[in-house]
Amino acid sequence: MNKEIATREVRSLEARDFELALGGGLSSYIVDRINEYSFLYSEFSPDEIEGLYIKIIDTLLDPVLMKSGEHRLDQWESGWGENLELFLNNPENIDHIVPKYFNKYGAVRWRGKFIQPVSEKFEYHSLAIILDWMFDKYMRQSSAIYEFGCGTGHNLLGVRRVNKNAVLWGLDWASASQKIINRMSEVGVDQDINSHQFDYFNPDYSFELLENSTVYTVASLEQVGASWDKFIQYLLNKKPKLCVHIEPVAELLDPSKLIDNLSIKYFKKRNYLDGFLDGLKQLETQGKIRIHQAQRTTIGSLFIEGYSVVVWEPL
Ligand SMILES: C[S@@+](CC[C@H](N)C(=O)[O-])C[C@H]1O[C@@H](n2cnc3c(N)ncnc32)[C@H](O)[C@@H]1O
Repeated sequence: MNKEIATREVRSLEARDFELALGGGLSSYIVDRINEYSFLYSEFSPDEIEGLYIKIIDTLLDPVLMKSGEHRLDQWESGWGENLELFLNNPENIDHIVPKYFNKYGAVRWRGKFIQPVSEKFEYHSLAIILDWMFDKYMRQSSAIYEFGCGTGHNLLGVRRVNKNAVLWGLDWASASQKIINRMSEVGVDQDINSHQFDYFNPDYSFELLENSTVYTVASLEQVGASWDKFIQYLLNKKPKLCVHIEPVAELLDPSKLIDNLSIKYFKKRNYLDGFLDGLKQLETQGKIRIHQAQRTTIGSLFIEGYSVVVWEPL
């Protein structure tokens, strides 16, 4: 905690606050998870909030802001390569597989406003609660669970808490991802965790999904912009039991609110997931899928509300 924050009033998010954000009663499992973490934060002053909006607008106007897309493979390789290096040297420290992009700006989105995290892992753990919510609700009975675009595979360890028996698979286009997961398997971090190289832009149809499987993605399908259809066609072909996405979904935000409007602009600027929910709704109209849940969480980072949930089933 830095000194300036220490002089302000520090508050804590409780289970009730997450219930309001996630729109409903939470299971005792999720309440326990929330209580296990620390969600201390403080409010920004009006001047600080002005400063955050100026930072976002300046970033949106920055002509060199990196777009996502096929050219970014090398960057993901080198980013996960750093985690790999740390993890290979010290495999007992599982913190080495946590991505380094959390808590970069000292501000997060929470229910339509910006707040200042005080707890060191506030941002990482608030995403973890959304994941735990999905794992608890949808993956307890799955026989096989696949995270596509899994990066280091750290989310899969959260899946294991709710499902002791499932085969876990982490897939990503970056080969460093498979190296980390294979090492996790070798050193016994998990008894049944597997890896495979997979590119959303060129799905590998030789990779089969097991019976009674669940597929999920977390902030990774976002990277394909409007080119999500190849992956959805792959899923329609392989027919997992359920597909769960925790991704930026512009259709669920409210462009009449400044904070949402700037998030939508940032999605466009970075070429993040585009037209995904509308596309799934068309597939539902055509009788190809059934959508079970499509909901924003009002939780996000400085620039975006990136963690909406969309859950659907191929028919
Ligand atoms: C923001 S990271 C999220 C990683 C992981 N899901 C997590 O929550 O920690 C985005 C991930 O998407 C992966 N990715 C980007 N484009 C991809 C593609 N075309 N095919 C498969 N994975 C991709 C990157 O390599 C990276 O691991």
